[in-house]
Amino acid sequence: MRNLIDILELSVEEIGELMGIADDIIERPEAYSDICKGKKLATLFFEPSTRTRLSFEAAMYELGGNVLGFSEANSSSAAKGESVSDTVRIVSYYADIIAMRHPKEGAPLVASYASDVPVINAGDGGHNHPTQTLTDLFTIKREIGHFDGLTVGFCGDLKFGRTVHSLLCALARYKNVKMVFISPEELKMPDYLIQEVLIPNNIEYVETTSLDEVMPQLDVLYMTRVQKERFFNEADYIRLKDSYILTPEKLASAKADMRVLHPLPRVNEIANTVDKDERAAYFRQAKNGKYIRMALILRLLGLK
Ligand code: CP
Repeated sequence: MRNLIDILELSVEEIGELMGIADDIIERPEAYSDICKGKKLATLFFEPSTRTRLSFEAAMYELGGNVLGFSEANSSSAAKGESVSDTVRIVSYYADIIAMRHPKEGAPLVASYASDVPVINAGDGGHNHPTQTLTDLFTIKREIGHFDGLTVGFCGDLKFGRTVHSLLCALARYKNVKMVFISPEELKMPDYLIQEVLIPNNIEYVETTSLDEVMPQLDVLYMTRVQKERFFNEADYIRLKDSYILTPEKLASAKADMRVLHPLPRVNEIANTVDKDERAAYFRQAKNGKYIRMALILRLLGLK
């Protein structure tokens, strides 16, 4: 049995294979429409979600399987004090694979120890979101065609944004990727990622507070929202929440073939007027999430 808790559990080759399967699903959906007949996915979401939970559920339905689960902790026995381990142990008697989101870092890892079936981390606190990273990589592959040599800008809340932490780790394994971190001082990329991932892998990186200054260099701009739910102090959130707002005027200095990604949901950080720009790839990205999750489910169930 295999789980997906951290994106680094998948090799670059395995990620390439998953993207190949996802491409094939897009080309030939009918060939996959009953592969998971008789299989059940449990979605255990202790934190709110639109894209991750519903794309996992749509993925399983489109593979011919079924879905059970809950979308908030209060509708499960967690509200009565049941531990994550006990919850997952029980659910693994009822389902063939589990996707779990939890506000506490490490909860899906703990769950995987108690489970009889594969567990997928669907986001744990400010730590990691490996299936979002698969979605991001798949989108870059489909939009740009390669990873080597790209200059990728990460903009916004780099401290609490789990999607940027996972994506940084994944991109560090490709050749000559340069990273540009754009954030307010208080929301900088955590030092452990710089010390443990970027420096040992000789990844070139720059930290700045100015999006305008670096915009012309970027091949990918990965926007993120300021993570209100991870702040201890509402006044700090209000002060920082609108640090960066991408507008058509700001995009004017960007490369003609740059791509704007965002894991979504957005709040204020990308103006709606950017949506019609061909470089805005974030809605295509959300759509891609279903196909790459279909590929992952097949892989973890040993069906592909
Ligand atoms: N990108 C993402 O994780 O979105 P949701 O919180 O809606 O699942």
